[in-house]
Amino acid sequence: MASTLTPTPSPGRVAHRVPPAVSLEDVTVTLPRASGDLQILHGVSFKVPAGSVVALAGESGSGKSTAALSLMRLLPWGAEVGGRIMAGDRDVAAMSKEELRLFRSKEARIILQDPWSSLHPMKSVGSQLIESARASDPALSKAQARELAVETMKRVHIPDPKSRLKAYPHEMSGGQLQRVLIAMALVARPTLLVCDEPTTALDVSTQAQILELLRELNREMGLTIVIATHDLDVIAGLADRLVVMYAGRVVEEGPTAQVMANPQHPYTWALLATAPKHNRGERMLTIEGRPPALDALPPGCSFAERCEFTTARCLETRPELVLVDEPSRHRTACLRVQADQSVSEEVR
Ligand SMILES: Nc1ncnc2c1ncn2[C@@H]1O[C@H](COP(=O)(O)OP(=O)(O)O)[C@@H](O)[C@H]1O
Ligand SMILES: [Mg+2]
Repeated sequence: MASTLTPTPSPGRVAHRVPPAVSLEDVTVTLPRASGDLQILHGVSFKVPAGSVVALAGESGSGKSTAALSLMRLLPWGAEVGGRIMAGDRDVAAMSKEELRLFRSKEARIILQDPWSSLHPMKSVGSQLIESARASDPALSKAQARELAVETMKRVHIPDPKSRLKAYPHEMSGGQLQRVLIAMALVARPTLLVCDEPTTALDVSTQAQILELLRELNREMGLTIVIATHDLDVIAGLADRLVVMYAGRVVEEGPTAQVMANPQHPYTWALLATAPKHNRGERMLTIEGRPPALDALPPGCSFAERCEFTTARCLETRPELVLVDEPSRHRTACLRVQADQSVSEEVR
């Protein structure tokens, strides 16, 4: 089914319909601190093919938000970014202030965890939607922006959109508000949606509805989606590719179904074992231990301290991400997997 939003081009919009592939290439992020700089990302690379959904997963503190927000250059003041962040053929770091403003208002939009703090409490949701539409396209008249707001409320399945335009945020449920926020992003007709824990603040059945909506927007509007979440149950059925992060690095990456069915990194196994639905709720497991402090990363594998397969080599040598399956580009950073691979190559 074609989206009701797509066929009504208006001035200044047409150029933004083709989603760019976005990518991080060996990205490092360092934040200044009084006690010394803190490196948060250590050479993070992944690709987000145009029109796909890519999920960043990992425990809290692994760098998911930093990686997701870096795509829009939304990092804390003073952050130093190395490597390359590309949106299509444009280098996000090289964008001028004006280019960045246009990029953020028209092309790439962000949805955060807490819908309550993302909306103005004293303005009706309709006025906020109309403002968002006109900010992204000043050529829109107020009436056109209002029409677009109603259409978009319908698109995100808010019942009775005309009268809901008049509602204030406190009159809506968390799930409805998250839909309003998604609508606020959509009125700009973006091609990229960056979602940082978009369902974490919602109850389980509302979570499922919001995830279904995101999947629908991806399928029907071709929206490219990057979603950061600590909850692997959120990802199954939504993300095409999964990027597993640990202590500021990517430890495994590949097609979601393949990574979930055949995880290569012991950290991914542990993460899957702690996902209640994936684990059919039989056991509520937690991963023992804690990730290392970012200012005291070990010289070898960052997961070695918590891993049941650790060898002396793991403590000394930092594993690189290597391909485990060429056609699907499934990659992992684990010396055990690499040792297995070289043994099977010798046997061949
Ligand atoms: N503004 C900041 N100042 C200091 N440390 C930060 C800041 N933002 C993030 N960090 C640290 O960087 C690490 C990664 O954070 P984040 O990207 O938010 O991880 P995640 O989203 O996976 O929980 C955490 O250890 C966090 O404490
Ligand atoms: Mg986060």
